[in-house]
Amino acid sequence: MSFENILFEIQDSIGILTINRPKVLNALNFETLDEIGRVLDQVRMDKTVKILVITGAGDKAFVAGADISRFQGKNSLQARRFAEKGQEVFFALEALPIPVIACVNGFALGGGCELAMSCDFIYASENAKFGQPEINLGIIPGFGGTQRLSRLVGRARAKELCMLGTPISAQEATDIGLAARVFPAEELWDKTLEAAGSIAGKGSVALRAIKQVVDRGVEVDLKSGCAFEVEAFATSFSSEDAQEGVAAFLEKRKPEFKGSFER
Ligand code: COA
Repeated sequence: MSFENILFEIQDSIGILTINRPKVLNALNFETLDEIGRVLDQVRMDKTVKILVITGAGDKAFVAGADISRFQGKNSLQARRFAEKGQEVFFALEALPIPVIACVNGFALGGGCELAMSCDFIYASENAKFGQPEINLGIIPGFGGTQRLSRLVGRARAKELCMLGTPISAQEATDIGLAARVFPAEELWDKTLEAAGSIAGKGSVALRAIKQVVDRGVEVDLKSGCAFEVEAFATSFSSEDAQEGVAAFLEKRKPEFKGSFER
């Protein structure tokens, strides 16, 4: 599969998706969103990919937002189609049955922040900046920003970020629970691959269950969320991984999870 706006490779069961438009700080146009969607279709069907890492080309930006050069003259219908495309792709990303880490190596603004928030967690470099600056263009976030941000950091913080439009530092993003960890820029990639490699070695059935239960659980009341958990806990016991994990512990050896499930 060949792409013009992204790069995709698989390294030791880790899928690496790089948004590759460094001249415009990896801004997302319709075609780039479409290519991301095509990679997700491929990853969903490929049992050899245990985890996905998403990053931006160059050392300045993860993604500096939707491509503003395409905004001029857009009418409401075209804007709706663009937002729907972004939301469709980001929902597909969120629903991927494997973990996804956003490796945020610079600006994660607008659609970039929204892309990062659609991943399971975010590792950021010290020079990264997060924000929803759409208000400065007289518009609002369209790829789920108002919704995922408020779920991650609370309504007041989300409104402040969207209303002020001023980016925050990686440290502040970590402090408010938007990013999971911040690393010196030169360490970010190695730390991300280290975590990705470690997670890739765990049981895929349990990883998928954690992802689904956490994501579904935040949408419902505590009892309903715990009911999802009990179901997934029970199901995880019938996986080969569970037999292997428990046996390895009792035999005092390292587990070797096969972890495959039908895709
Ligand atoms: N869409 C299209 N092009 C973008 C872009 C975007 N979201 N963000 C950056 N670019 C382009 C710039 O136009 C510039 O192109 P040029 O070299 O042809 O002039 C290039 O990327 C480099 O950006 P520049 O603004 O010169 O870098 P900077 O370091 O001075 O500023 C930012 C970096 C991220 C602060 C600034 O580019 C910016 O504010 N970008 C827009 C962020 C935004 O509003 N995103 C939400 C969009 S809905």
